[in-house]
Amino acid sequence: MQVPAQQDYRSRAIAVEARGVSVEYDLSREKSTLIALEDFNLEVREGEFLAIVGPSGCGKSTFLNVVAGLVEPAAGEIKVYGKPVTGPEPDRAVVFQDYALMPWRTVEKNVRFGLEMQGRVDSTTKDKVAHYIKMVGLSGFENSYPRELSGGMRQRVGLARALVTEPRLLLMDEPFAAVDAMTREIMQEELTKIVATTGQPIIFITHGVDEAVTLADRIAVVTNRPGRIKEIIEVDLPRPRSRASRQLPEFQALRERVWQLLSSEHPERSEAEMAVSAAAGHHATDAGSGGGI
Ligand SMILES: Nc1ncnc2c1ncn2[C@@H]1O[C@H](COP(=O)(O)OP(=O)(O)OP(=O)(O)O)[C@@H](O)[C@H]1O
Ligand SMILES: [Mg+2]
Repeated sequence: MQVPAQQDYRSRAIAVEARGVSVEYDLSREKSTLIALEDFNLEVREGEFLAIVGPSGCGKSTFLNVVAGLVEPAAGEIKVYGKPVTGPEPDRAVVFQDYALMPWRTVEKNVRFGLEMQGRVDSTTKDKVAHYIKMVGLSGFENSYPRELSGGMRQRVGLARALVTEPRLLLMDEPFAAVDAMTREIMQEELTKIVATTGQPIIFITHGVDEAVTLADRIAVVTNRPGRIKEIIEVDLPRPRSRASRQLPEFQALRERVWQLLSSEHPERSEAEMAVSAAAGHHATDAGSGGGI
């Protein structure tokens, strides 16, 4: 299926708007405040796939939590579909970095929970749940408990639980980090297809530079903490994109650009070290070990 390049998202309505967002955490033990985000500005449009990359601890998950309504900013404004965020709403689904599954519930019941929480259980629920369990490749594990699954499988349950609610906005925090390379490819393709059909915007945090270039319409690179937008890179590669797209010179140029921006956020890594690592092709691909940044 030829999916149109999603250039048209640019003329669409704004789904998420962050203006001057700052987040501070109270560190009561140290009697101090940690500034996680400062003057963070970002717009995400309907149908857009926005990837966020940045050093560990720079505030990426914090930003996602602000959009989800789980963390309140100390300053600035955050709107989803034009409405100021005051708390979690059913129009936003989050796939958390740490799975957040219920250990006492089976896979099927964990996925079903997405709908239960919203009071949307009806005669279609069973089929919907089965559909999304199949989509993430967990058919046959419906009655397993999270402790009986691998990390990657748990992450896929989290994804199914978010997708089953068919949200207007999908917030994903390193959803494929614990998934093996082959499954990641499949899930990336599935996710691309889902987005192409539903048109729902996605904010997708990843440490995988190749993953970001493969999936995103734009990549927001975040600075070291306190996190701010360092640069936003447009990814105007044709879709559908696949593993083969990674051989394109345009792909490689984008990958290099992202890496340059990221490495400048790691001052402790000397330039010489970066050069050696680049020459050895350490960042040439992030398939496999979940590598990246
Ligand atoms: N609930 C909290 N209380 C206090 N500090 C927090 C809390 N949550 C996050 N932080 C701090 O805020 C900063 C940003 O954390 P965050 O989890 O947003 O980073 P991240 O960019 O998602 O990192 P990673 O890539 O490692 O997941 C970190 O220094 C972290 O220690
Ligand atoms: Mg995080």
